Amino acid sequence: MPENKITILAIESSCDDTGASVIIDKKIVSNVIANQLVHSQYGGVVPELASRKHQINIIPTVDTALKKAGLAKEDLDAIAVVSGPGLMGSLLVGVTFAKTFASALNIPLIEINHHAAHIMALFIDDPVPQFPFLALTVSGGHTQISIVKDYNNIEVIGKTLDDAAGEAFDKTGKLLGLSYPAGPVIDRLSKLGRPIYDFPEPKIPNLDFSFSGLKTAILYFVQKETKKDSQFIENNINDICASVQDRIVSILMNKLIAASEKTGIKEIAIAGGVSANSGLRNAITNTGKELGWKTYIPKFEYCTDNAAMVAITAHYKYLNKDYADLNLTPKPRYSIG
Ligand code: KG4
Ligand code: ZN
Repeated sequence: MPENKITILAIESSCDDTGASVIIDKKIVSNVIANQLVHSQYGGVVPELASRKHQINIIPTVDTALKKAGLAKEDLDAIAVVSGPGLMGSLLVGVTFAKTFASALNIPLIEINHHAAHIMALFIDDPVPQFPFLALTVSGGHTQISIVKDYNNIEVIGKTLDDAAGEAFDKTGKLLGLSYPAGPVIDRLSKLGRPIYDFPEPKIPNLDFSFSGLKTAILYFVQKETKKDSQFIENNINDICASVQDRIVSILMNKLIAASEKTGIKEIAIAGGVSANSGLRNAITNTGKELGWKTYIPKFEYCTDNAAMVAITAHYKYLNKDYADLNLTPKPRYSIG
């Protein structure tokens, strides 16, 4: 590798997938993910199983990422790792591996916040958003609106008071008997149905969100209908999914519109696992056209957890020589802004 190229290995192990990616001068050259299918039978991520699987997967995943990039470990200039937020045991595997690798190679370690990385996924491909922009980050763990003022300057202006948008999809899916994670399943079934059931939109002040009321409303609705017709869910699953998705998307979009009005910012982006949702992607594109927004959506493969988003974040931190100490420890509740 030529001397002047910045070459970074990035690791992401905050939840149930082990990711490794190599970035050379801002270009992603490999992005490998080892998914953990073991959790689907439990209807959610089992932390102890997740950390054990990370231990099994981390070395082969990193090895594959390096091989795909055509690199040897000696070519690396830095190792980046997500230190939080996430599951303690899962984070511990990635952080310990990254510290050991950086120390053995005698190269800098870079600490990355998982949330910031989801937003930074928007900088992998052109066109990239201009600062300041609004980012709606929607994942299985978090739902928030931020003003992104610079690569390292993110101000959170609204967040969920209870469930995250991804949890709203996953928990609703569970009560409808769908497999975990239910977000992509609800998305797929929604395309076959119509949003004919009207679930309530919660009245939450400011730019904050709440999804627990919606989940309860859906539970009571299916309980009532199933009493009248035991096959109600099976016979109407597509329309139920379309209605659930429609409401989750409208809750997100109404807050995003309010945030744009309040801040005057019209550069608008979405990020995180739920930004893979076709309903949300269409809504932001269409609303953007109506309201004169410039909208940014990550490429599909950079929406759900991945290490490429960690790599691009690390590239900018490396330029600032923003390195971590080798005594870095996981931060399960690490928040941005
Ligand atoms: O960002 P992510 O991979 O992990 C966390 O940081 O939490 O997000 C995972 C979440 C899950 O709740 C999953 O159901 C949801 O993203 N998700 C979707 C879709 N793809 C993933 N939700 C709705 N529609 C999708 N197409
Ligand atoms: Zn995530």
